[in-house]
Amino acid sequence: MIPSLRKTLFETLYKNKYLYRFASTVPFAGQWRVWQRLVLPRLRGHDVLELGCGLGDLLADMLAAGYHCQAVERSPQMVAAARETLRRRKVGTNSTVIQGSAQGLPFSDASFDTVVSTFPSEYIYESDTIAEVFRVLRPGGRLIVIEGANLLPVGFLQPLLVLIQMFVYGPSAVFGPRKERKLDEEMARSRDNAPREPGLTHIDHDTGTGTSTDEVPDAWFGQFIPLEQNGMRRRSERVRSRRWEVYISIGEKP
Ligand SMILES: C[S@@+](CC[C@H](N)C(=O)[O-])C[C@H]1O[C@@H](n2cnc3c(N)ncnc32)[C@H](O)[C@@H]1O
Repeated sequence: MIPSLRKTLFETLYKNKYLYRFASTVPFAGQWRVWQRLVLPRLRGHDVLELGCGLGDLLADMLAAGYHCQAVERSPQMVAAARETLRRRKVGTNSTVIQGSAQGLPFSDASFDTVVSTFPSEYIYESDTIAEVFRVLRPGGRLIVIEGANLLPVGFLQPLLVLIQMFVYGPSAVFGPRKERKLDEEMARSRDNAPREPGLTHIDHDTGTGTSTDEVPDAWFGQFIPLEQNGMRRRSERVRSRRWEVYISIGEKP
């Protein structure tokens, strides 16, 4: 799909909660919410800001878990949808979600322990955004970005979904830069028969969820998020299950 058409598609999605719900559920085999929730064990401190919260599901998860949260979302329709989610789930208030832009955050310096962004659009690659994140984070705070995820073409349905995604979303639109994506390696890793990759540090294997996490030095993903240029230390994590891989970049404020 040509980039301008794709851009129009995304702008349309951000204006309609039903379309957005469909587009973030069906083509991803219902895993989007699972991927969003990978943020939870990575949160630090008590005060959390979410950028571009969309429908507000993760925001409601974080509030329900006891965090004090705020969200900044550009689309008025998504602001309304997120407030509705909070009402339905009986957490937060209307003022939890502010209409605004990640490039100009309406908070004073050092207000948050963690800033979260899942499946961000282009705003996450802008220096103005990361400079603002740095400003509102407390020393020792962190930015968590779930930049993208790949369904692996395993089983009957997922190969079809992968094809649809590649057509609709393109090789880099939602999933972050995938120029160096190596599907064969991802598949082998999912079957646990890939040779051990040099330099990886294995962090965790969760038998409950069947996921494992590796810290990836010099990762191909996340590299266009200008963390170092804005004073943050980078940490890249890849979480995988038999069906998917998720790419997480963490920026730590010293
Ligand atoms: C792909 S959606 C992801 C939504 C949500 N985080 C999720 O995981 O489903 C990107 C969201 O970012 C919002 N957005 C786009 N540009 C923004 C900006 N400059 N500041 C804040 N939000 C923005 C969009 O309106 C949209 O809701």
